Amino acid sequence: MKDVSIRKVGGALGALVEDVDLTRILASAEAVAEVRHWVVEHQVVFFREQPLTPAQFQQLAEHFGQVMDHRAYGAVPEAPAVQVLHSTADVPSKVELWHSDMTFSATPPSFTLLHGQIIPAYGGDTLWASALAAYDSLSAPMKELLDPLQAGHDFSYGFKESLAEPGGVERLADMVAENPPVVHPLIRTHPESQRKGIYVNPLFTTHIEGLSKLESNSLLSFLYEHIRTAEFTVRLAWQPYTLAIWDNRSTQHKPVNDFFPQERLMHRVTITGDKPA
Ligand code: SIN
Repeated sequence: MKDVSIRKVGGALGALVEDVDLTRILASAEAVAEVRHWVVEHQVVFFREQPLTPAQFQQLAEHFGQVMDHRAYGAVPEAPAVQVLHSTADVPSKVELWHSDMTFSATPPSFTLLHGQIIPAYGGDTLWASALAAYDSLSAPMKELLDPLQAGHDFSYGFKESLAEPGGVERLADMVAENPPVVHPLIRTHPESQRKGIYVNPLFTTHIEGLSKLESNSLLSFLYEHIRTAEFTVRLAWQPYTLAIWDNRSTQHKPVNDFFPQERLMHRVTITGDKPA
């Protein structure tokens, strides 16, 4: 795209795209393919001041692939793929732990697009970590141990608080039925860059196959601590209409829930991915 500038904002991942008006490239599959390429390369990219309507946001997301629904969240009526993440003092965020989106699914999302709507005056940043940089920095014997392992992931484990709410079991019955526990490689190879990355997270991963409970818990604790090493992360301070697009196959993320009693409202779309390999 002509005149667009893109610059790295973190050593391991993250780039800011400037001088682009996304409403003007919505109809151009070619321009969005370029954005998609930047997301794979930088793992997460940020855009400031993109006042897309929910319908335009959904249109942009649809260029990335097939949109997914997630019935744990409400949706915008005029753009049903756009999930509403609304946190208030009375109904705080359900998400606290580091994760890659929806790893409980047999085909977890490739990309997520998150669009800031109501942004608190302070706090409410999001952190991302590069699962690729975290893997690259491991020693050869540790890589050899991890490479062949498989790990279990479960929707009911990640959404146990929502399921425990009054009416939660009934509300989420379809999600539970459609997402039985799955097993994914602990180290996955990114299907486009061919780079390897750590693919377990404290929100949805239940165990490592074939290990004792103590071995599994200890190894998972090590990996969770390792991936959030400051040098593998980047942090975004949101403004209204900031847009972040990330690659779930190479990153993990975590919202920082330090903004209460203020309100935070985000729009999100997730895009179906492949079976991890
Ligand atoms: C998410 O976990 O997908 C949302 C992150 C955020 O709200 O910052």
